[in-house]
Amino acid sequence: MDKISIANLPTKIEKLDLFSNQSVFIKRDDQTGMVTSGNKVRKLEYLLKDAQNKGCDYLITSGGIQSNHARATAAIAAKYHMKSLLILKESEINKNEGNLFFNKLVGAEIKLVSEEEYQDLTPIIEEVKKELTDSGHKPYVIPMGGSNGIGALGYVEAYDEILHQEEQLGMVFDTIVIANGSGGTYAGLLYGNKECNKSKNIIGISVLNQKKQAAHDILHILEDMNQYKSSPNSFIENEINIIDRYIGLGYGKSQIEELKFIEKFAHEEGIILDPVYTGKAMYGLYHELKNGSLQNSQNVLFIHTGGIFGWTDEKINMLYGSI
Ligand SMILES: Cc1ncc(COP(=O)(O)O)c(C=O)c1O
Repeated sequence: MDKISIANLPTKIEKLDLFSNQSVFIKRDDQTGMVTSGNKVRKLEYLLKDAQNKGCDYLITSGGIQSNHARATAAIAAKYHMKSLLILKESEINKNEGNLFFNKLVGAEIKLVSEEEYQDLTPIIEEVKKELTDSGHKPYVIPMGGSNGIGALGYVEAYDEILHQEEQLGMVFDTIVIANGSGGTYAGLLYGNKECNKSKNIIGISVLNQKKQAAHDILHILEDMNQYKSSPNSFIENEINIIDRYIGLGYGKSQIEELKFIEKFAHEEGIILDPVYTGKAMYGLYHELKNGSLQNSQNVLFIHTGGIFGWTDEKINMLYGSI
């Protein structure tokens, strides 16, 4: 399957100093772009191509009020002279900040839905699709997080990119760690691992769902990916390695110790993690390394999947108070 080239690739791999007695590297997928940054862009390169192939002119997607995926979709729609409609879950804090602000700046239409409506978006999506079609548009629906069989192809490609970088660096990463949300990033990497006959330990640190649900979602995406591959692969739940000990207070909710860890990491590395995804995942990796559960890993690669716009006032005030 083809793609539209949008992201700045390959993204750099850098050594981290914080883990002095262990070899830990970071892959800077937070630098795939600016408003089109993070892991979502790799997925959207394939999804946009599919939308264009089908002659669509409207991108519809959904997510939380501060969805990184929705923001990247909106920015890409603007760049490719398409329209975008974002169906976002209302929260107590619907402020014009972070991702929501950038959505508006790039001209996305925003439809806020209640928490209850968000549980099953099918009727709402069908309704907006009909409205758009009746007014002469051709909408293309991208699932939450861009996580379907097409979107996940972006991370099969990222897996290949890592193999090339290993050759250049003269080293092998036996363990890859990412933040896991809707599962597309994990699914793409695991698919790449199998397709290339490798046995890297791919670890997803969940920020959203418990292990069982996360694995179920990933298996579903893996199955969907087979449609786009000439020789299909099969997967079982046991191959999926999700750690669900670092969800903390729940999706999008922060604890002060997580934010303090992000601050410590920024001081030592000059790299900014986000509070919703990569901050929790790196916090998790730090503790897993500390408690010895990854002692068989020689070289660990953490993929920084972006999310900087998640630093909303609420999170900043938790760390530093309001001025
Ligand atoms: C910054 C960031 N990291 C990681 C993820 C998780 O990716 P996935 O939804 O593919 O599991 C997301 C998804 O929203 C994200 O925005």
